[in-house]
Amino acid sequence: MFLERLRIINFRSFDELRLDDFQQINCIIGENGAGKTNMLEGIFMLSANRGFRTADRKELTKRGAEGFYIEGIFDGEIIQKTLTGKNKSLTLNDSPIAVNKLRTYNPVITFSPGDIFLATGASEIRRKFFDSAIALLDDEYTEHLVLYERALMQRNASLKKDPKHAGLWDEALISNGAKVIEKRIKFVKKLIPKVENLYQELAHGDAKLKYFNNFRLHKDIKQSLKEALEQSASDDRIRRHTTKGAHRDDIALFINSLTAAKSGSQGQNRTLAFAMKIGAVEIVEESLGRKPIILIDDALLELDPPKRSRIFNKLRDSGLQIFMTGTTPDFFDFAGDNANIITFPT
Ligand SMILES: Nc1ncnc2c1ncn2[C@@H]1O[C@H](COP(=O)(O)OP(=O)(O)OP(=O)(O)O)[C@@H](O)[C@H]1O
Ligand SMILES: [Mg+2]
Repeated sequence: MFLERLRIINFRSFDELRLDDFQQINCIIGENGAGKTNMLEGIFMLSANRGFRTADRKELTKRGAEGFYIEGIFDGEIIQKTLTGKNKSLTLNDSPIAVNKLRTYNPVITFSPGDIFLATGASEIRRKFFDSAIALLDDEYTEHLVLYERALMQRNASLKKDPKHAGLWDEALISNGAKVIEKRIKFVKKLIPKVENLYQELAHGDAKLKYFNNFRLHKDIKQSLKEALEQSASDDRIRRHTTKGAHRDDIALFINSLTAAKSGSQGQNRTLAFAMKIGAVEIVEESLGRKPIILIDDALLELDPPKRSRIFNKLRDSGLQIFMTGTTPDFFDFAGDNANIITFPT
């Protein structure tokens, strides 16, 4: 997708922001607190219908205003988000569009300094990564995930208060868990070889990824989950929560045969995390036949210049539209002379 124009009213620090004539490469320059991240967040809203850090209307609305409005023209089509007073709408060319459909219609992928935690952080961060990437490819995924998480919560509550009824949630847990895992397997099968190749290309090193489940998974995913719940039944009662299942899935990451989180350098882990993101970008483009828009919020800052250029060139040469932030114009030397410069405050 290609964002041509953006209009923002009463969102975050903006009273009104109107920007036209975006190019493929857009560099947003301004001091700390100038509103650069807020602008990226405005673009992100027109894909995910939520902010980077929050979905809370109060936080997103300009202090003192009643609500906000964001409008973007993407490849000639207009997406509008209104949240003022009782008026709450999300539309594509003036027709309401559901959030799950919007995500796959207008996929947006963000790169931020916090991405390093994909390599170094808790497994939950990696699950969030593949969950949000799959949600861009498959508009049914989130529904299964939400139903799975609901069943899990109810089952865990039962295990705490009323263990003999915990089995009531097993069917929902198994059927939705199987869907979630099936879609994750499909995604990681494509992701892993891409990331391993990308890491080689970007860091000239050897990375290995391995998706794993904390129970024995065989061909029949539903049956595997059923067996896992049966086998862990007494353990679950003792521990008072569901020990096995999709909520414990993870990807193990290795750099030069060592566990990334324990032995990788900051730059290696950051590059591996970006390779995962770029892998997701490629899968989204191949599956949807549309290019996701790329938002890079200060993310390239901490990489050495060769890696920074390689990552940027990779994205640019794929023809993706990029919006990236920085505090000084000279930081963007790697972006070339054709980049569109937006200076805040505008
Ligand atoms: N709802 C809101 N109403 C008014 N101002 C807000 C709101 N939410 C955030 N802000 C303000 O926006 C500013 C932060 O903007 P933003 O995060 O976009 O800065 P930035 O240009 O990305 O800075 P940095 O270079 O430090 O990342 C802060 O001053 C904050 O107080
Ligand atoms: Mg910022």
